[in-house]
Amino acid sequence: MCGIVGYIGPRKAYPILIEGLKRQEYRGYDSAGVALIENGEIVIQKSAGKIAALEDSLEGHDFEANSGIAHTRWATHGEPNDINAHPHTGMTGKIAVVHNGIIENYRALREVLKRQGRIFRTETDTEIIAHLIEEYYEGNLLQAVRRALTQVEGTYGIAVICIDDPDSMVAARSGSPLVIGCGEGENFVASDVAAIIRHTNRVVYLEDGELAEVSASRFSITTLDDVIVTPHLQEISWSLDMIEKGGYDHFMLKEIFEQPETLKNAMRGRLNFEEATARLNGLNLQFDELHHIRRIIITACGTSWHAALIGEYLIEEFARIPVEVEYASEFRYRSPIIDADTLVLIISQSGETADTLAAMREAKRKGATCLGICNVVGSTIARESDGGVYIHAGPEIGVASTKAFTSQMMVLSLITILLARMRSMSYEKGEELIKALNGVPEQVKKVLSLNDEIRRLAEKYRDKNNFLYLGRGINFPVALEGALKLKEISYIHAEGYPAAEMKHGPIALIDENMPAVVLAPKDSVYSKIISNMQEIKARKGIIIAIATEGDKEIAELADEVIYIPQVNDFILPIVGIIPLQLLAYHMAVLRRCDVDQPRNLAKSVTVE
Ligand code: G6P
Repeated sequence: MCGIVGYIGPRKAYPILIEGLKRQEYRGYDSAGVALIENGEIVIQKSAGKIAALEDSLEGHDFEANSGIAHTRWATHGEPNDINAHPHTGMTGKIAVVHNGIIENYRALREVLKRQGRIFRTETDTEIIAHLIEEYYEGNLLQAVRRALTQVEGTYGIAVICIDDPDSMVAARSGSPLVIGCGEGENFVASDVAAIIRHTNRVVYLEDGELAEVSASRFSITTLDDVIVTPHLQEISWSLDMIEKGGYDHFMLKEIFEQPETLKNAMRGRLNFEEATARLNGLNLQFDELHHIRRIIITACGTSWHAALIGEYLIEEFARIPVEVEYASEFRYRSPIIDADTLVLIISQSGETADTLAAMREAKRKGATCLGICNVVGSTIARESDGGVYIHAGPEIGVASTKAFTSQMMVLSLITILLARMRSMSYEKGEELIKALNGVPEQVKKVLSLNDEIRRLAEKYRDKNNFLYLGRGINFPVALEGALKLKEISYIHAEGYPAAEMKHGPIALIDENMPAVVLAPKDSVYSKIISNMQEIKARKGIIIAIATEGDKEIAELADEVIYIPQVNDFILPIVGIIPLQLLAYHMAVLRRCDVDQPRNLAKSVTVE
């Protein structure tokens, strides 16, 4: 979703800002803009569409400016055109603002300001912030921003510049991430570390309700109530090459192929072979507390929600603790029943998804212990949760989540073993599962070697416009995720369904044009899924089966078979999703879709 980058220092700001925007392209956006303090004036340029369009519109300009702010916008209020793109100014053009988030009371504020004679030029909620700051500006930008922000309700991460104070910029945050990057004689502001990692790995995350005044040589942080905050400097451990394509055509493909490595990272130091259990140090829960959990709620959005469903199957089956999975967007507005023995798991790759964050805060308000399962270190959910487990997948740039999903499943498997071994699971069973997990990277590698075969399959079915994805038991959420991958990046309509439930609706869709991707490994429900496949065949449907190596029977029934290795059922979802990720990827490439930045989608959804 929207991205912010700001620079102040001795270098030319424009190329740094453009590069910073490009590093955030993956978040999803539909227009871009930049504001520079050039020769005592604020120069603003904005363009609908890609950052390249913004660059084209400024071709031939060599800006000298040493400070500026820039933005990629994902439209919420007003269509994505040049005018609605950020930065926004008030009436005088002295102040420019970029904003992530939503100002909820903007209509009321706009009416008041209009009555005072202010003229609004855009349909955005953000313009209101520029007007308010201008209204309150009496020579001190920080104070004006502070006063303006006391008026607004909603969420924001903002960066502001002012002609009269060209040596500093102001940033503020409430509900939308913002980080200050600390360089040598220069400083940065960004909504995402990826935007500035090329220049510095020393950062300070702003907390909600904090403002930063940033100049080239220093920065200071205060609260909305003007209380001084001591900054907590952190070093980012990842590097630039982790956010580059490394020879792959797309980030998504790179991330799919990284999985043997990222899965190793997710379990590194966490397999306790001696005691046949998992070692998870960040939970911040004592043995007693873990032992007393009687119920678990897992809440998440999108792909993370699918991981949550897998977690439900695993935890219920092996740890025998009842689990409920809730869409975060629903959970936050319900009145969930939470008692002292309920543990809430929050799954979020980015750690910033607005609904998931709100769900966690609601659960905490109700007294729940919340554990975060996040990828982005230092993200809001990671920081606000009571404890948790990082999945350590490294930066995920492709909008369609792949490596984060498998690592989320890995962490949920570890949690399952930990909880199960405190309860009824035997040493032998624990040992079997730990060994199975340890073998996951090798098994995933084997499935990745099917890449060419899967590409050929995609060539054959690239023109189909509808797909069904079917699975039973723990393969059902895998089917849901497979369908989501396909629809997200190739815009093919795809539906995931429990295989047996098909006959209560989707079976009506089946004909000789409808491929059904069926997860049919040799597991405990194998014979049942074979019956479901017969039902499809009887209606001339096309079957693409994901089956276990050596299964001859299935080849007689299915039109296509992708063979995956025989593995322990416990790790089946991690291995089973790989061919579906590859299938979605190749279908999207063949249909010439923008794989890494699919239309309308955003990587990190920071609005409700
Ligand atoms: C967006 C992304 C999905 C992601 C979902 C939840 O919709 O496009 O890939 O699964 O948000 O994101 P989170 O960061 O909370 O896991």
